[in-house]
Amino acid sequence: MENHNIIVMLSGEGTTLQAILDKCTVAKVVGVLSDHPNVGGITRAQKANVRHIVLFDRRPNETKEAHTERMIRGLDIILQMNDNISYIVLAGFMRILSADFIKHFNDKGVKIINIHPSLLPKYKGLHTHQKALDNEDEEHGMTIHYVNEEMDGGEIIFQKSVYITDADSAKTLEKKVKVLEQEYYPKVIDSLILGAPLPT
Ligand code: GRF
Repeated sequence: MENHNIIVMLSGEGTTLQAILDKCTVAKVVGVLSDHPNVGGITRAQKANVRHIVLFDRRPNETKEAHTERMIRGLDIILQMNDNISYIVLAGFMRILSADFIKHFNDKGVKIINIHPSLLPKYKGLHTHQKALDNEDEEHGMTIHYVNEEMDGGEIIFQKSVYITDADSAKTLEKKVKVLEQEYYPKVIDSLILGAPLPT
């Protein structure tokens, strides 16, 4: 059977990576890149025997450009060693990727997608759950989108929403949204790779 390999980039706990590892039936995670040492995401990747686990934390005095260049070189090696990597999947990766980074991989036919805990274009950046509460929104949710150089700004692929109730806090909303993220990100990744209809 043809391989459908992906690389996941993360900065933290890695619960989203875990959902991808557990639930994707088509996509196979062959690489995990973290920009932070000692995070749960690395431990999860190790437990799952992911083939390439790479750490690219930003060195003291390293420019953003030099750090990006190092990540590109590292990911290029993973691409060279594995056929059929068509997606780089961001799962809690907390840096904005530069236009150079995005172009480099898009030019090689590798698309980059991200998951964000809000109904974009509402609430880019951090503290999305609190922002939805402060704004007295009736619903909140999550968005899967292509990555461009604008933070949380690329073309939207898929969204799912939840109702906000009077009992909700930022914590309960975060939990509700994570349930959605972990149910749908694996399904959407598989569908994109197969060119199949997105889940409903
Ligand atoms: C997810 O909620 C995702 O929406 C956001 O970062 C969080 C990652 O959490 N981009 P984890 O590290 O996967 O647990």
